[in-house]
Amino acid sequence: MAKFIINGRKPLSGEIEVLGAKNAALKIFPAALLTNGVIRVSNLSQLEDCLKAEELLEFLGYEISKKGERTIEIKEKRFSRVDLPESIMNKFRASIMFVGPVLVKRGEVKFPHPGGCVIGASVRPIDMFLEGFKKMGAALKISDNHYYLKAKKLKGADIFFPKVSVTATESLMMTAVLAEGETILKNSAMEPEIVALADYLNKSGAKIKGAGTPTIIIKGVKKINGGEYEIIPDRIEAGTFAMLAAASNSGDIHIKNCRPEHLESLWALFDRVGINYVLYKNSFVIKRSKKLLSCDITTHEYPGFATDLQPPYTVLMTQTKGSSLIHETIYDRRLLYADMLTQMGANIVMADPHRAVVNGPTRLKGKKLISPDLRAGIALVMAGLIAEGKTEIDNIYQIDRGYEKIDERLKKLGADIKRVESS
Ligand code: EPU
Repeated sequence: MAKFIINGRKPLSGEIEVLGAKNAALKIFPAALLTNGVIRVSNLSQLEDCLKAEELLEFLGYEISKKGERTIEIKEKRFSRVDLPESIMNKFRASIMFVGPVLVKRGEVKFPHPGGCVIGASVRPIDMFLEGFKKMGAALKISDNHYYLKAKKLKGADIFFPKVSVTATESLMMTAVLAEGETILKNSAMEPEIVALADYLNKSGAKIKGAGTPTIIIKGVKKINGGEYEIIPDRIEAGTFAMLAAASNSGDIHIKNCRPEHLESLWALFDRVGINYVLYKNSFVIKRSKKLLSCDITTHEYPGFATDLQPPYTVLMTQTKGSSLIHETIYDRRLLYADMLTQMGANIVMADPHRAVVNGPTRLKGKKLISPDLRAGIALVMAGLIAEGKTEIDNIYQIDRGYEKIDERLKKLGADIKRVESS
């Protein structure tokens, strides 16, 4: 197992590039199952979660060839399997996205409950996926810890999501593309990654309207062609770098190759916190600020403040003057890392499992920590970078899942961070 060793409080400045979004990349692999043709995927980051998605697609009978550092081509070799193996499914939650495409293409699918980060209820639910497939005409059986879905031909349906979920929206949208007739998805998620997926599918022959709004209407088609999928820049990575720059407050940091329009809720907050920033079309600069003030947040589905940015924001709030309430509404266990920040000297009071009050500013001190999950992990890196002394973060596999070679990229900003193999 590898760990990071960070010597904090080094001044940070310079340029950093944002890479392709994990949560956009992960969806092209299941979408490939719909396609009769070759898909060329560009701007693909080298991430653990994407490698697992590639492994699952290869297991199902697809061939993936590398065409450059960040480009691959996907094509069908022999897609005949309808079982999704536990050994891959239990490694990442997004594996659930493969279920709908296998079902609509092959008429049946067998799969175990998917695994993933320990951020939600002890078992992250998939009820909305199952209800959606049933509404489209699939029969569901559950036995031996596996789900079996069967349908000769899926039919379009009117589906209302009781909760807003990105992957449930994307799954039902993909599945409906090859179902018979019209599907209407209501109370859909509106994330930019959904729009990117719909744009790609439409270019390849799908008929999807309304992606990026709560109501998505899909007219089923017979066939989806191959095409090009350029992965959009990772808005979570861009937002995390923005907060690192603001919390470090030591020099100008230019965050390049991103879409500032995907981070509107962050800019609105930055105005209130007093962060000095300049936005450009495909980049932004965070400059030194005079006085940082605390500000409350409530996480919300897009375009609200993203739950994936909540842990870095909490670290930022340890450096601002006043009290801020952090209200996590999407996941049950996404504030557990707050205790680690407290060990580093932060003044955080847990009101209940969903709400933390951060009193700042506080000087953080280096500590030995274990990364609990992806987004908390990057927040600990951020805390280590602004803390006095040495921080050790173990289990950085959890960070590599979503941030490619983050240590090498942060070093270019002046960070003192080293990756070492732990015994
Ligand atoms: N939910 C249900 N039933 C379902 C599905 C979801 O009740 O059948 C609930 C969940 O319990 C949760 C909410 O709906 O309260 C949304 O959770 P879900 O697990 O469905 O989120 P997601 O759509 O799978 C995506 C991202 C997450 C990101 C959320 C933000 C991907 C692969 N994952 O998850 O990314 O936090 O949207 O809303 O796109 C991450 O990158 O670290 C990450 C966790």
